[in-house]
Amino acid sequence: EKSAADAIEALTALVPDFPKPGIVFRDLTPVFADGSALRLVTDALVEPFRGRVDVVAGVEARGFVLAAAAAYALGVGVAVIRKAGKLPPDVISESYSLEYGEATLEVQPHNLPSGCRVLVLDDILATGGTLAAATTLVERAGWTVTGVSVVLELDGLGGREALPGRDIRSLVVA
Ligand code: PRP
Ligand code: HPA
Repeated sequence: EKSAADAIEALTALVPDFPKPGIVFRDLTPVFADGSALRLVTDALVEPFRGRVDVVAGVEARGFVLAAAAAYALGVGVAVIRKAGKLPPDVISESYSLEYGEATLEVQPHNLPSGCRVLVLDDILATGGTLAAATTLVERAGWTVTGVSVVLELDGLGGREALPGRDIRSLVVA
């Protein structure tokens, strides 16, 4: 029987020199495009946290694809963690470092009750800046982070170290 990890390994496209020379970009869109792979991946992302999740949070943009599928699988709703300037007030904001410069994520704290248990999803854990900002926002909103699930963890970029104390699951480490 095929596992989520098998499907990810079989379908992930390695794209040399994207978005810059010398970078080998791991493109997960073929995983999203394959119905049975998306289902395997979604089920594997939520499985460790089943029964402990009141809402699934997805990080714009690729995390949204996974969050919607995972929320449907669990029978819960979605909280959207968006790039700055997209959500109407009230929002809380958290900035994080990119390779060059800064970016900001935002969330609306008022849609969900305080104390609600959040599973945070994204496609890739690289430096961890994005998920560190996302999990900080979840806690600043008054919610609790049940855990973090990603499809792919890029080894050697310090992603786990950027998220101390978090229960982080990755389906594939590369
Ligand atoms: C990518 C990816 C993760 C993040 C991982 O998103 O989807 O969210 O980078 O990198 P990090 O661990 O070093 O923070 P990107 O910011 O490119 O946005 P997108 O989903 O809108 O393409
Ligand atoms: N692929 C997709 N997204 C990414 C990557 C990658 O290799 N590195 C950082 N974000």
